[in-house]
Amino acid sequence: MDRKWWKEAVVYQIYPRSFKDSNGDGIGDLRGIIEKLDYLKDLGVDVIWLTPIYKSPNDDNGYDVADYYQVMDEFGSMDDFDLLLEEVHKRGLKLILDLVINHTSDEHEWFMESRSSRDNPRRDYYIWRKPRDGKEPNNWLSRFSGPAWEYDERTGEYYLHLFSRKQPDLNWENPRVKNEIFEMIDWWLKKGIDGFRMDVINFIGKAEGLPDAKEPDSPEHYANQPLVHEILKDLHEEVLSRYDIMTVGETPHVTPEIARLYVQKDRKELDMVFSFEHVYLKDFTGENFIHFKKLQQRWSSLIREGGWITQYLENHDQPRSVSKFGDDKRYRKESAKMLASMLLTLPGTVFIYQGQEIGMTNVEFSGIDDYNDIKTINKYREEISKGRKAEEVLKELQPVSRDNSRTPMQWNSSIHAGFTTGEPWLKVNTNYREINVENELRDPESVLNYYKKLLVLRKKYKALVYGSYQPMTDDDSEIYAYFRELEDTKLFILLNNSGCQKDFDPEMYNIKKSRLLISNYPLAEEGIGKNLLQPYEARLYIVE
Ligand code: GLC
Ligand code: CA
Repeated sequence: MDRKWWKEAVVYQIYPRSFKDSNGDGIGDLRGIIEKLDYLKDLGVDVIWLTPIYKSPNDDNGYDVADYYQVMDEFGSMDDFDLLLEEVHKRGLKLILDLVINHTSDEHEWFMESRSSRDNPRRDYYIWRKPRDGKEPNNWLSRFSGPAWEYDERTGEYYLHLFSRKQPDLNWENPRVKNEIFEMIDWWLKKGIDGFRMDVINFIGKAEGLPDAKEPDSPEHYANQPLVHEILKDLHEEVLSRYDIMTVGETPHVTPEIARLYVQKDRKELDMVFSFEHVYLKDFTGENFIHFKKLQQRWSSLIREGGWITQYLENHDQPRSVSKFGDDKRYRKESAKMLASMLLTLPGTVFIYQGQEIGMTNVEFSGIDDYNDIKTINKYREEISKGRKAEEVLKELQPVSRDNSRTPMQWNSSIHAGFTTGEPWLKVNTNYREINVENELRDPESVLNYYKKLLVLRKKYKALVYGSYQPMTDDDSEIYAYFRELEDTKLFILLNNSGCQKDFDPEMYNIKKSRLLISNYPLAEEGIGKNLLQPYEARLYIVE
């Protein structure tokens, strides 16, 4: 298997708006990130991924780009960015950016020209269609509620927006769009960044003729269309292959069979993609966890076929993993550590989202006014307009809202968790006095210190990166046990995915002699022998 820095890397995702505010305006910024680089170095991650930092009116917090060549005012200036990149590299870390090229903001110069008249030279940069029987050109729905089409009075046509109406979709059939975007990508790579996370990259090509979908919310005619592969191949050949970088595609609605087309090495498209199949699970109980294990088995086969995969449990679109997959009440620390043990010992490049390393939890807001996420707010309005009760809708949205992971990073127990000296743009989770970086740095048993130890082990044992994956307990919904093996190193991972004590039988795994490398509980004896697993216990052994 080819060895690559990006296969060995652990990536730390920063949502800059919520990470660290350096100037007291309540919004995180690039200088705030610079202040915390030593913290990240000390944590032991290798790569930093920033969600979009480009100029934006922030209808979707930066995923609506108004200028790819400028930094968002609230985040700082291009000089701040250059300094950040330099400081990152100085510490031996790498930096990747979010590439949002399925759509732009409606405030992007291209769109303002495009919408100005039907014969504007940039008209075809976006997807315009005449009304069909006086209504939308097809039945597609926006992923942020309502139709995917917006009528524009000025020219009497509709434009397509798979996301908000302020995020018009680019027309990738237009070679000029392709050229302009490729040039922009090259501009950033020349600056020296180390790669891209590509936002909904598998949506960029739309089916010819934009046919109606069988179900209005089905992505069948915009996800994984042939055009995407054409564009990615050209992008690789013309731009990406000239740099030593990493690329990871965000690809909803992708199975391992489809993912293979993006990541198999000789297809020369992307290095890896994010699977969504596991985050579509509601939790990790019963059948769901068995399903999760099956997904691991299926996705890891891509590695054997010369591709690569990713591992993540959280990001800025998902709830907090300890709340969704663990137990954020009675066993917050234990389950956060168990999930960390799993994440960092499964095959694939690992992505950690800010705050995950201290076991941050979902937030409970008291009303819709506390929310910021456009997806949550649009959904709320849609449900209310159907006549549903506010209380009921809020209760449904609380565990799934994207704001759960967007509350400010909890640095210490001072006001606003040390995130800002001003008024934070989104409320801080009220549990910040207990859960924060400063406390956890001091406490040797903290989730944070556990992550640090795991990150050291991941560096030390290449079997965790390049080793084979051999699962042992496929139909058990609570115990998860597997081997990772490379040359003469064999590691054994044993996890209790439940809040109960569980017996286990070392004979079953045929392990004679072994040494414990890490566990989230103190162990009375060394080695396998203590045959009772505590709630959410995790152990990593080296088999001797
Ligand atoms: C991706 C991003 C999400 C954003 C959407 C539209 O799913 O992760 O935050 O809203 O794309 O750009
Ligand atoms: Ca700020």
